[in-house]
Parts: sequence; structure tokens; C-alpha cells
Amino acid sequence: MKVLIIGSGGREHAIVWKLSQSPLVTKLYTAPGNAGTSEVDENTDIDISDFTAIKSFVLEKSIDMVVVGPEVPLVEGIHDFFLADDELKNIPVIGPVAKAALLEASKDFAKKFMNKYRIPTAGYQTFDKQNINKASDFLKTLNPPYVLKADGLAAGKGVLIIDSYDEAVSELNEMINEEKFGTASQKVVIEEFLTGVELSVFVLTDGESYKILPSAKDYKRIGEGDTGLNTGGMGSISPVPFADEEFMKKVETRIIKPTIDGLKSEGLVYKGFIFFGLISVNGNPFVIEYNIRMGDPEAESVIPRIKSDLMELFIGTANGDLQNRNITIDERYCTAIFLVSGGYPGSYPKNKLINGLDETNDSILFHAGTKIDPESGGVFTNGGRVIAISSFGQTMKEALDKSYQNANKITFEGKYYRKDLGRDIMNQ
Ligand code: AMP
Ligand code: GLY
Repeated sequence: MKVLIIGSGGREHAIVWKLSQSPLVTKLYTAPGNAGTSEVDENTDIDISDFTAIKSFVLEKSIDMVVVGPEVPLVEGIHDFFLADDELKNIPVIGPVAKAALLEASKDFAKKFMNKYRIPTAGYQTFDKQNINKASDFLKTLNPPYVLKADGLAAGKGVLIIDSYDEAVSELNEMINEEKFGTASQKVVIEEFLTGVELSVFVLTDGESYKILPSAKDYKRIGEGDTGLNTGGMGSISPVPFADEEFMKKVETRIIKPTIDGLKSEGLVYKGFIFFGLISVNGNPFVIEYNIRMGDPEAESVIPRIKSDLMELFIGTANGDLQNRNITIDERYCTAIFLVSGGYPGSYPKNKLINGLDETNDSILFHAGTKIDPESGGVFTNGGRVIAISSFGQTMKEALDKSYQNANKITFEGKYYRKDLGRDIMNQ
């Protein structure tokens, strides 16, 4: 089969790397991809939101399946576009239709959905221009800190956690009346603050049945000890030690199953990944957020642990017979450490030559912000998050040690990475 993967990050490289091992796959294209995906197979320079260009490419190359990595094309309706087009409707897309993508694209939609299907999540109310005058009364019912969330997609920046009541009122006003996050914050979800430990859990579903993928923890802040600005993710570890069988059973019965059943009841045929952003409050899982895709950088530690043929699982997802397919998981730990450009997540330089890529051993390198210079053939930085170094180990420490040894061997001007990954969960 010929497969087109949409996206250009470490997650997409991990998907391409895994699919390339399948005997069912004959050709892989990534749009637009990065240096890593082009080393596995071929990149094509198409804008991920240009559905007409994607259509021409799919028809020209006789693509058999499209796998969508990031949320934006899904929210913009790439799956619906395929279903509505006579020439494309029989080419399966892995990723939900736009109406189901609202689980990520609208916090208010997600909260309503969770309440309707009794899925544990923080108590909340939603405000807009019409009812903003009632927000102060609701805030008074909550204990600080206050959690304010822009309803729409805000590139990971739309959540504010605020200690003071007065500041919460004024931020809410800026979000709604001054559109601090553009139209995304015309509506704001205010919710109860939950105290606990966060983790990510993923499923692949055909809309009827599902396969649970390994749990992972993502390190979001730039600084050690979880300090400083939020990033796209500085690394990930899978599995999360406290997510044992008993905890995962609760996740399945209280969260995963009611979510899949809820989507069905809403008449939404969901084919793709669901990412449950969870928090464990005294051993009980609550949903912080849904995403409608694999996580990044979680994919870089979760996908290597899938031993089964991912293409076969995707075919099961597309055909609606996932229930008859097996998934086996590598028991070992996998850890992914991101090397990032100096200055990230603020401004940073690009086009720095990356050395040492051939000197690493016993790790998998998943590229994100990289590109190949066609003249010299050298690999150069092309983004904030540059390369994830993923390694296996019988223990978390063994996996981390390998990733860190190889992190030393790869060099580029301004290279930075966090040296404390895993420290917080190693002894839980
Ligand atoms: P989100 O974009 O919804 O994942 O939120 C970003 C981050 O804010 C999460 O990863 C949590 O660390 C934090 N957060 C969001 N909602 C809550 C909540 N209700 N209680 C505590 N922390 C939260
Ligand atoms: N790792 C968080 C995300 O993919 O959104």
C-alpha cells in the first residue's frame, strides 16, 4: 500500500519509521515532512491545509491511505473533504471528521460531552460576552488557583492558571472582550483546579472497538524541575510507573469506554487516535483535555513500543474490524529526549549544521525541526524542537542513560535539552 502521512514533526517521523517496517507498505510520502522522514522515504512539499493540492497528489500517486498527524487539518475537515469527494471517498483517512475533532477544537464541546456521558472531569462553566457578568459569582464558588481556558485552538497557549481572584476577573475580561487569543477566546471555560499527577493515554479506534496504547508522560516546561515557559514538549517517557493495571482499568471503564460509546451515540464515526490528557487525583483518573491525534513528543516513546504491524492496525481502523487485530506492546521502557534550539520557546536561530548524527548508538533518532541542504547533503536545524532521541531500557534509568549518552554526541550551535527527565516519576 502507498500511504501519505500529513505533518512534519517527530510524531510523523515516528509513524513513518514504524510504517516503513510493515511488509504491507510499498511507499511512504510525508507532506511536508522533515530530514528524518525523507531519509525513510519521500517528502512532498504540500501545505497541510491545502486540501486541493493534497487531492491532486493522492490521485496522481494512487495513494491508498492518508494518515493525519496534527490536529489542524482534521479540525479544518480533511476527512470530511475526502468523504464528500467522489474520487477520494474510498481512500481511508486516519483521523476524525471535523465534528468529532471538536473534542479538541472546542473545550466547551468537550466539557459538555464529558458531562453528558458522565466522564470524570473538573467542574466548570462556560462564559462569553452574553453571560460574562455572571462569571464573578462562579469564580467565587471556586478555590484558587483559577483555571481559565480559551474555548478554541490556541496553539497550546490558551490555558491560564491564576492565583488571584482579581487577576482572574481581569484576564477573563481580556480573553472575552479583548480577544486575547483571537476568536479562540470569545468563549472561555472556567474550571475547578485539580491537584494530582498528569499522564497521557492513547487509543486507536475504528469507532466501535479500540486498542489501548501505552501510557506516557510528557515534559512541557523548558526548564528543569518543570520551570519556565511551556514548550511543545521536551521529551516523554513510556510507561508511566503509577499507571499500573488497576489504574488503567479505571481509565478504561470510566473514561475510554464511555468516550467511545458517547461518540457512537452522537452519531460520530471516529476513526483514528484519541489522546486522553489525564490527571490522577488520589489514584482516580480525570480528563484534563482530549486531543484528536497522537501526542508529540509522546509518539516518540509510545510508537516504538508497539510491536505489532501499525499498518495492519490502520487497515483495521479504516475497515472497522480493529476488534479482530492484535496489538502487542514491548514491556521495556522507552524514553525520548528532545534536543532544542537555543532560545526556544522564544525566538531562536535556524540553519545550524547538526553534527554527530551517525555517531549515536542504540537509540532511534526522530527528527522534528530539521532539513537537508540539497547541495551539501548536510542536516540543518529548521525549528525549535530539533530531534528526539528515543531509547529502550529494562528500567527507566537504563533507557534514559542511553538517550542522554547520545544527546551528548549530537551537536549543533545553541543545543539545549533538559537533564532531569524521569526524576519526578522514577520512584513512584
Ligand atoms: P490543556 O491545554 O487543557 O492541556 O491545559 C494545559 C495544562 O494546564 C495542563 O497540562 C495542566 O497542567 C493544566 N490544567 C488544565 N486544566 C487543569 C485543571 N482543571 N486543574 C489543574 N490543572 C489543569
Ligand atoms: N504532548 C502534548 C500534545 O501533543 O499536545
